[in-house]
Amino acid sequence: MKVKKLLKKGAESEIYLIEWYGHDAVSKIRLSKKYRHHYIDLILRKQRTLHEANIISSAKIIGVETPFIYFLNSNNFEIIMEYIHGNILKDNFSPEYCVELGKIVGKLHFYNIIHGDITTSNFILVPQNRLVVIDFGLSFFSERLEDKAADIRLFKEILNSIHVEHFETSFENFLLGYAEVYGKRSLKIFNTVNEIEQRGRYSR
Ligand SMILES: Nc1ncnc2c1ncn2[C@@H]1O[C@H](COP(=O)(O)OP(=O)(O)O)[C@@H](O)[C@H]1O
Ligand SMILES: [Mg+2]
Repeated sequence: MKVKKLLKKGAESEIYLIEWYGHDAVSKIRLSKKYRHHYIDLILRKQRTLHEANIISSAKIIGVETPFIYFLNSNNFEIIMEYIHGNILKDNFSPEYCVELGKIVGKLHFYNIIHGDITTSNFILVPQNRLVVIDFGLSFFSERLEDKAADIRLFKEILNSIHVEHFETSFENFLLGYAEVYGKRSLKIFNTVNEIEQRGRYSR
């Protein structure tokens, strides 16, 4: 394994571009948190590394494009995965892509996978306008409407702050794609999104 460069250093993890048996790959290493007790920190990082790899694979099984996991080294808090060649959606944004994005999130939710961080930085645009989902670091399994609604609500906020000039069409497209995949019961979830927003307004 050869490290080529550091792609990103966040609060939770470091992402390296590496060479893995002659191919580009990504190594995601979960970082320690100084404020945690040392043993708790080791246990949590190990659990979360396993959990993230598990959800990346679960999403792939239901037909959502995610990076292939090449290697899991939970003792080192490391996931080695396929490097997705493309640009993050944020840098190449257009409202049309939101239909596909909505379909992806609808499918994840249909199978009770809550991504937890639906931002345009966590989708990579690849040839033929396909989107690959990354960063399942905050993901979890849940059947609850509220959890699905909160996932959508976060994305709505992202659109409204980062892509605000295309907000209306983008969000409509997202809902269209979502409803197409999730079906009639998506209405209940959309209503819950509105309820959460109302609550936010009254508590201000
Ligand atoms: N499999 C991958 N292929 C290509 N780029 C990736 C991959 N995983 C992560 N990246 C790049 O690294 C950035 C951070 O990775 P991410 O998993 O989102 O970590 P974080 O939890 O720090 O947001 C992404 O926005 C993307 O640019
Ligand atoms: Mg991310």
